[in-house]
Amino acid sequence: MRDPKVKQNAYLVALQQSFQRDWEVEENLAELAELATDAGLNVVDTFVQKRSYPEPGTFIGKGKALELAEIVEGDDLIIFDDELTPAQQGNLSDLINAPVIDRTQLILDIFAQRAQSNEGKIQVELAQLNYLLPRLTGKGKALSRLGGGIGTRGPGETKLETDRRRIRKRISDLEAELEKVRQTRGLQREGRAGTAVPVVALVGYTNAGKSTLLRALTGSDVYVADQLFATLDPTIRRWDLKDGRWVYLSDTVGFIRKLPHTLVAAFQATLEEVVYADLLLHVIDANHPQALEQAEAVEEVLKEIGATQPVISVYNKIDLLSHPLEVPPPDQGVSAFTGQNLEALTEAVYEFFAADYIIQEYFFPFTQLGEASLLRDKAHVLGEEFGEEGLLIKAEVDPKTAAMLRSFEKN
Ligand code: GTP
Repeated sequence: MRDPKVKQNAYLVALQQSFQRDWEVEENLAELAELATDAGLNVVDTFVQKRSYPEPGTFIGKGKALELAEIVEGDDLIIFDDELTPAQQGNLSDLINAPVIDRTQLILDIFAQRAQSNEGKIQVELAQLNYLLPRLTGKGKALSRLGGGIGTRGPGETKLETDRRRIRKRISDLEAELEKVRQTRGLQREGRAGTAVPVVALVGYTNAGKSTLLRALTGSDVYVADQLFATLDPTIRRWDLKDGRWVYLSDTVGFIRKLPHTLVAAFQATLEEVVYADLLLHVIDANHPQALEQAEAVEEVLKEIGATQPVISVYNKIDLLSHPLEVPPPDQGVSAFTGQNLEALTEAVYEFFAADYIIQEYFFPFTQLGEASLLRDKAHVLGEEFGEEGLLIKAEVDPKTAAMLRSFEKN
């Protein structure tokens, strides 16, 4: 049994096909190394094999696999940057005589470590089971050798050994449970929609600083960690802009390049918050050497999930930059850490919604005076005056509230 205090060694492997540039493979591997370190592994070395196409049975060439077998020892872990088929994974782990996992399984493992809410846990377990199901009948070594290390968290060893039928049953139970959670979330969302308060969603590459920004903007206590995927569950807070105007601000799961499709599907519920938001704040780590590529990866995921709302780019961590950052408005350079420029960001979001506000007079007869409370809650009241038959209110109103109060408009 491995000493849990000693980090498990990991070797990273990538295939460089003819259409891939050197820097592309290097960047992917650098990110895989970051993921592996984040999962608590000790990355010892990386290997790249150039081939015009993957070997069907073993992904890399058999010779390369045997070369790896010479190097690795004990319970060293081999991590492939690309998704392996169940057969490839089985063959490789036999050839190398060590556990072999791929990027998807590593990400799933990190997700399993981080999921906090019931919903997050269900989603991760579902994604893990769906990933494992086709691999159960393959060569057992890839899974059975992992005991206690990466790749076994979540469903757990005993569950993996049960037959596929039980796993299918578990998958359908989890799906039903998730559906229930989704319905509740849908109702909550409808509730929010009914209140006419706009919803703003923070999106961004993992570790860009979304949770820190949410906390800085809303003054709420949100779990922040220098870890990838610290946020797996959508968190929604009230964000006061100005003049009594406020919006809902929601945090979402961090995006990542090559986010496995099974995971995009599994996190659809989380990402729905993004799809239904009125405005997206795309948080970019301005200090990251691959900031542009990360931003592009986020844009791709947004496209994939059908999020087409307006986006304000928020270049975060400017406190770490040695030179000032100039971005065209309404985009902003900010520091969630020092609070620099957060007021300008708040103003930009206020302006975004204010553009749609209208100034309107409403008349509430005494018999329907209660209806005026909606206006007081949701709009910026500019003046109130009691007449003989009721109350006259002049207010600056957003389009949703205006639609709800149409019958009280004074012509
Ligand atoms: P995921 O949950 O992985 O999506 O991460 P996230 O985008 O929510 O990032 P989080 O807020 O957890 O921040 C990641 C790390 O960046 C933490 O160590 C933060 O302290 C740090 N960080 C966030 N904002 C800033 C900033 O403005 N300046 C500096 N220097 N560090 C920051």
